Amino acid sequence: MDAGDKANDKVAALDKQIARYHLRGQWQSARDPLRPQRIQRDNQNRVLMEPSTSGVPHCWKWNDISEFMRLALEHLDQSFTARRALIMTNPGLQRGTTHTLAAAYQVVAPGEIAWAHRHSINALRIGIEGSADVFTVVDGVAVPMEPYDVVLTPGWRWHEHHNKTDKPACWLDCLDVPFTLALNQSFYEDLGDATQERVADEDVLSEMMLRPVGSTDPASKAIRYPWKKTWEGLQRVAREGVSPHDGAALDLVDPITRGSVLPTINVSAHLLPPGYRGKPVRRSASSISFVIQGEGTTVVDDAEISWQRHDTLVIPNWTWQRIINRSSSEPAVLFTLSDAPILHKFGLFRQQTAPD
Ligand SMILES: [Fe+2]
Repeated sequence: MDAGDKANDKVAALDKQIARYHLRGQWQSARDPLRPQRIQRDNQNRVLMEPSTSGVPHCWKWNDISEFMRLALEHLDQSFTARRALIMTNPGLQRGTTHTLAAAYQVVAPGEIAWAHRHSINALRIGIEGSADVFTVVDGVAVPMEPYDVVLTPGWRWHEHHNKTDKPACWLDCLDVPFTLALNQSFYEDLGDATQERVADEDVLSEMMLRPVGSTDPASKAIRYPWKKTWEGLQRVAREGVSPHDGAALDLVDPITRGSVLPTINVSAHLLPPGYRGKPVRRSASSISFVIQGEGTTVVDDAEISWQRHDTLVIPNWTWQRIINRSSSEPAVLFTLSDAPILHKFGLFRQQTAPD
């Protein structure tokens, strides 16, 4: 046994001894197999660490989803569950679509009410199949969910969903479930009745920036972002210029704070002109994209993910990505939902670009 082995034995004995006192030497961290970092050394032998990716890139196909929603309508009784939602679980994670966000396709049967409740988890929806007669009531205000409208239910707001049409309605949900659970801050309450008392006329609903009537809460803000206005804005942005990484892009913003629509989730809309080939970029935020129209490919590290209308794809944190519109004649349009606001609040957001 040489001097090095003896020293190692002594350190191992010390590790064991202090563990009985619920202590752990920081010197153990470098060999911790659960440590979620990639560790490298540069040519001067300096240690460089960066986060490992949480989860893997993946795409959920609308063709599969629409069939499973049909079966969920057929097999699940309303009395059994008020929410027929297909949660997209990242193949590389125990739960969540990313390590902070969970997205789901949800379907509501004709005439059905998905009953009122509230939770500390923040949520938003992107309408897919709906009309003015498909609506979410948020704190007593009925908010229509037409295709591609974004409707918010910020944390602890009462909400319920109605489908007053004769066809199934569906939308994409996105919630900060994994983030809130990681902080152990999940609170939930049923209203007790299926529906809330209304506090506003439906004509309030055409306004983009809704504030529940009578509310003086500074956090009260826009609840609905109608697709018509988002689309007009996107076309305006596209005329002014196209980013080398994200196509023509705009963020939906809170009209009061001018920040992200929810404290934990940013929503951006993207228009990729025909033949658009984005340059590589990687971000410390994770994101989920929903395709409104067109078809394309997103190259994530070495994986190529093809997508088309109403598919949803997930881009994990800190992965190189570049986005391509495969059509030479039609634009592609997407919404992207990202956890970047969480990172910005703590000074953790990073972005890196590469020439090609
Ligand atoms: Fe909810």
